[in-house]
Amino acid sequence: MGFGTLIILIVAGLLLLVGTHDLLQKRHAILRNFPIIGHLRYLLEKLGPELRQYIVADNDEERPFNRDQRRWVYATAKKENPYFGFGTDNDVDLPGKVVIKHSAFPAQNNSTEPFLPSAKVLGAWGNRQKAFRPNSIVNISGMSFGSLSGRAIEALNKGSILAGCLHNTGEGGISTHHRHGGELVYQIGTGLFGSRDSEGNFSMNALQATIKESPVKAIEIKLSQGAKPGIGGVLPAKKVTAEIANTRGVPKGVMVKSPPKHTSFSDVEGLINFVEMIATETGLPVGIKAAVGQIDFWVDLANQMHVTRRGPDFISIDGAEGGTGAAPLVFSDSVAYPFRIGFAKVYDIFYRQGLHREITFIGAGKLGYPDTALAAFALGCDMVNVGREAMLAIGCIQAQRCHTGQCPTGVATQSPWLARGLNPNDKSVRAANYVMGLRQEIQRLCQAVGVGHPSLVPESAVEIIDSIGSTVSILEHYGLSSSQKRLEEHDINFLNTL
Ligand SMILES: Cc1cc2nc3c(=O)[nH]c(=O)nc-3n(C[C@H](O)[C@H](O)[C@H](O)COP(=O)(O)O)c2cc1C
Repeated sequence: MGFGTLIILIVAGLLLLVGTHDLLQKRHAILRNFPIIGHLRYLLEKLGPELRQYIVADNDEERPFNRDQRRWVYATAKKENPYFGFGTDNDVDLPGKVVIKHSAFPAQNNSTEPFLPSAKVLGAWGNRQKAFRPNSIVNISGMSFGSLSGRAIEALNKGSILAGCLHNTGEGGISTHHRHGGELVYQIGTGLFGSRDSEGNFSMNALQATIKESPVKAIEIKLSQGAKPGIGGVLPAKKVTAEIANTRGVPKGVMVKSPPKHTSFSDVEGLINFVEMIATETGLPVGIKAAVGQIDFWVDLANQMHVTRRGPDFISIDGAEGGTGAAPLVFSDSVAYPFRIGFAKVYDIFYRQGLHREITFIGAGKLGYPDTALAAFALGCDMVNVGREAMLAIGCIQAQRCHTGQCPTGVATQSPWLARGLNPNDKSVRAANYVMGLRQEIQRLCQAVGVGHPSLVPESAVEIIDSIGSTVSILEHYGLSSSQKRLEEHDINFLNTL
């Protein structure tokens, strides 16, 4: 028997085995009805995202980030040519489109690495001992060690040093991968990882121990997240490795649940007391992160802050379009307001209480692009956080497998084999290039508009195309009051010195 015949016999034998298995199994009707060939359906379902991404979809079709958006991040991160030729392939007059209005006399600044610090001092509101002015208006959003690999966290942390920005730890505590010198915002989620005693209750001693060894510049209490608001999270037992258990302060190999709400407070007054207790004990600025749902909470918070002059130094608003490592589909699709709508509602409440100049407002939800970021600044943001865009910069291909632990690029996985491919030193440079490139493009937009800093962009400079094809100011579109006098005089003076 020749070699070719042998191969044919082996293949035929294998097909016979698969076909017999398909006919006898009872779980999948499609395989029972169409033995062998029915597997194509599963193969196509599995490869569908990649096929669409690389072959079928056009430049603006994919979600959450289309090909143009990803290409811009990749090129910026690799310091390749980030330009696009021939003109836009977008329909530039569709309702909802942002129009940035340039000046006839643009400002001039040829710096390729612009210094764009926050217009406001973080913690000035609460007179915190360690109040500071963040050096970068673009910072890395909270993504925990657990949802991201240790190497990805290391790349982001080292990248944040190079880019001079802050690195938010996410809710999984501070791991060794966060300790490469990048300045941190330590996030306390409902699981209290890094701040809990053995019973799972909040512990100030644990918090102090967690932040002691690291350059923690601020603390963020996470109430909710845009992609999964109102529910907690679960880390399956098999993902609770010794390292993760140690970082989170939980037993190894036992499933970890984050409850839907914090156990240390259950109303606005309790939240304010919790914020003040942490700020007093640590001296750090303390803020909150939330997606926007029921509005009474924000009205109550702004009222109580106005009356007592106590409460969070910063408010991070996450849009419903935000990302996550894993969430039920309906929570990602249908719960909470999209960023601009939610942010505008909250900002206006604080504006009406006269607190908008004192509190720092941070936004997240696909704001890692110059146009979406500028629109966020026009609405009142002082800084933007970038999550998935920073993941793209370190190699993420939007495979959307974060929830399976099988991320092919080693970014969102705990598999040592998959993470092995991610070189944290190379990728740290890419993360930094991306953050710096984004800052530079924001700066260029500001110059086109005729100002030197995104917090100085006048309200008339950004409009939205409405449903009848006309335009309205972005503030009017989102129901915001005037942005005049958005900053204190001393902050404007500071920006004018840049
Ligand atoms: C893999 C992954 C993990 C995340 N983990 C956290 C987290 O631990 N805490 C948190 O507040 N947000 C978390 N987020 C949400 C991001 O911080 C961010 O708010 C959201 O993705 C919107 O920003 P983006 O559109 O730039 O990604 C996570 C997002 C992703 C994609």
